[in-house]
Amino acid sequence: MDIRVLRPSDIPHVQQTNITNLPENYFCKYYLYHALSWPQLSYVAVDVSRPKKTPYDAPKIVGYVLAKMEEDPADGIQHGHITSLSVMRTHRRLGLAEKLMRQSQRAMYETYGAVYVSLHVRVSNVAALALYRDTLGFKVGGTEAKYYADGEDAYGMRMDLDYLR
Ligand code: ACO
Repeated sequence: MDIRVLRPSDIPHVQQTNITNLPENYFCKYYLYHALSWPQLSYVAVDVSRPKKTPYDAPKIVGYVLAKMEEDPADGIQHGHITSLSVMRTHRRLGLAEKLMRQSQRAMYETYGAVYVSLHVRVSNVAALALYRDTLGFKVGGTEAKYYADGEDAYGMRMDLDYLR
């Protein structure tokens, strides 16, 4: 498995992965906005175990993290934000999400001087909560009522990046 920076040509495959794994979906231009504005922050996991038959074969994207810097932070503190993260069912529990998150966090810190990283997660999302809280060390800052289109609440989570110093 190869973890590398998201390229604009990956976007249709990342979009497909997102649609397969999550109800929160985005137009191509939103992915492109991330890739062009903060090209160091978004990563893909590519399954390289199956060799390409032709040079035009699509890369097999099995996971991604889409991330950005908060452009006008309300608290005035430079920080990153995880817009979306997912890994295909066939490739879960291999440590891919953890690696994608750590790569993005490091780039936020080193490239943009991010002080912390934030994200939202459904209160019912046991797997993602375990990853963020127990594996990575995020803390719940609060609950945002009816954050999602279907009415579910979100936890607002954040993690300081000074451990990267
Ligand atoms: N149950 C409990 N703990 C879990 C689970 C699970 N199903 N999955 C991961 N974890 C925790 C474990 O502590 C795990 O370490 P371990 O395997 O040594 O026990 C740790 O997280 C790291 O797991 P990874 O293998 O890195 O996680 P994975 O690559 O499987 O991806 C993810 C986790 C992204 C949550 C995946 O299950 C997924 O794509 N789910 C659907 C989409 C989703 O919910 N995305 C997050 C939405 S929030 C947002 O996008 C900001």
